[in-house]
Amino acid sequence: MTDFKKCVAEKIKTVLSRLSDDSGLSADELSDMLEYPPDSSMGDLALPCFKLSRILKKAPPVIAEELKSNISGEEFESVTTAGGYLNFKASYSFLTSALFDICEGGDRFGRSDEGKGKTVVLDYSSPNVCKPFHIGHLGTTVIGHSLKKIHEFSGYKCIGINHLGDWGTQFGKQIVAFRKWGDRETVEKIGIDELVRLYVKFHEEAEKDPTLDDEARAEFHKLEEGDPDNLALWQWFLEVSIAEYKKTYRQLDIEFDHYTGESFYIRNGLGEKQVEAIREKGLLRLDEGASIVDLSEYDMPPCIVLKKDGSTIYHTRDIAAAVYRKETYDFSKAIYVTSSQQSLHFAQLFKVIELMGYPWYNELVHVPYGTVSIDGAKLATRTGNVVLLKDLFRMSVDKVKDIIREKNPDLENVEETAEAVGVGAIVFYYLCNNRIKDINFTLDAALSFDGNTGPYAQYTYARTCSVLEKEKPVPGKGSLTVDGEADVIKTLLKFPEKVKQALDDYEPSVVTRYIIELCTEFNRFYHNCQILKAEDEDVKNFRLSITEATNKVLENALHLICMKTPRKI
Ligand code: ARG
Repeated sequence: MTDFKKCVAEKIKTVLSRLSDDSGLSADELSDMLEYPPDSSMGDLALPCFKLSRILKKAPPVIAEELKSNISGEEFESVTTAGGYLNFKASYSFLTSALFDICEGGDRFGRSDEGKGKTVVLDYSSPNVCKPFHIGHLGTTVIGHSLKKIHEFSGYKCIGINHLGDWGTQFGKQIVAFRKWGDRETVEKIGIDELVRLYVKFHEEAEKDPTLDDEARAEFHKLEEGDPDNLALWQWFLEVSIAEYKKTYRQLDIEFDHYTGESFYIRNGLGEKQVEAIREKGLLRLDEGASIVDLSEYDMPPCIVLKKDGSTIYHTRDIAAAVYRKETYDFSKAIYVTSSQQSLHFAQLFKVIELMGYPWYNELVHVPYGTVSIDGAKLATRTGNVVLLKDLFRMSVDKVKDIIREKNPDLENVEETAEAVGVGAIVFYYLCNNRIKDINFTLDAALSFDGNTGPYAQYTYARTCSVLEKEKPVPGKGSLTVDGEADVIKTLLKFPEKVKQALDDYEPSVVTRYIIELCTEFNRFYHNCQILKAEDEDVKNFRLSITEATNKVLENALHLICMKTPRKI
């Protein structure tokens, strides 16, 4: 048994059914009532008895006293009352066997099967092709992937989809620019940056010569009609772009199940099919030539599904994608991770799906996040001074290399380690914040080995590895002897609950902050308690078991937030 909450809740339930015929409360409901006392000296869990006073028709302090005198067991070091609160402290013997249970479970601790048999589709990262990642993409990419990991950890089958922005008039411009000023070799050599250069040049030239815009429109039209040359070029632009994105994904250990972008729905006629379905439902209105779904009744601007010229747009493709995904994957939840600037877009989308009569509209979830700025400067999209993600990563990795050279010059695999730590530092710093908050980025703060940072967490993990490399614990040997050990175990025991909270709130930061908590407790233990040098064999073995459990939990937790775990730093 590793769940102290559950253990307490069951005890209370048994006593309650003895004291009053039936309180009608389940162990789960009682478990939800339990709180963590603000000060751990009061206990590990508290039951605020006022929550029971209506049911039991007694004053909270009376209930607390009554429960107290009826609850005992070797799980508890103490059961005490403080006014209307009943406080429980876990015993050393409970914590000892809980720790052994964690160790025995290997890396299963914290996993659950809550999602068994259910599929979740996650749409994240989803850049507009021919454009490199900038810092604004960090959020959708790492929040999205963390949520995927957290769902998998909780037993869901997950499908990660990269809904690339790979269709639209801009490809007409890209084609014209490439034919006029570009060449294959350079694009092959330089990649996406060359595509961007050509695109920017197109805009500069079109200012002087507006006929270029007509040319671009004509080329896009040809592309839509299936012109083989244009199709081949477009396909190649796509490949060049995806190859570039994959470099970033590799740094973050991210893989997608599908790169099914907007073009897929258009080229297969799925957008138009849904427009027809909307028309059949009697939802389609004409508004200055455009086809819309009126949403004024819901206080939202109309959802445009066909532009004046009859072409589909962003919303149409999302409607088609939602229906396609439901039909293909039969999801129980479809998650979209984008910046909060798109909240209205998704609110409109979900409403249209509802109005179309699809009963699964409430299985669609938009997970928004706030904006990112670097050292105070806002990073607006589509402006010239965007900070590219790869540059930020490179800067960070270079700084880490300097630090390693200074602090640990003999380290092998410097390149690989520096990349894991440098990239991880940025991810960790970012995922420490509530996702909806706007955040300001300071590289120095992200990289500090002393603060609550990625390097600090990875360093702590490496510390556990280094201890275990010297000696491994014998399973089940020894027992808890001091509070310094108990504090780490109590923190370890919180892991499943934190995963659950992160899952329910779509909030990876819960895991990130838990990692800090665990690292802090472990490091305190490491400094205050001798592990390898402990004189008593049993004490040493027990402390090695604590180290092993911390190692496993940290490894799992770090992977949940897209962090790599080098064994040496
Ligand atoms: N490509 C879009 C952008 O860069 C994000 C797509 C998000 N996913 C979606 N299904 N709309 O803004």
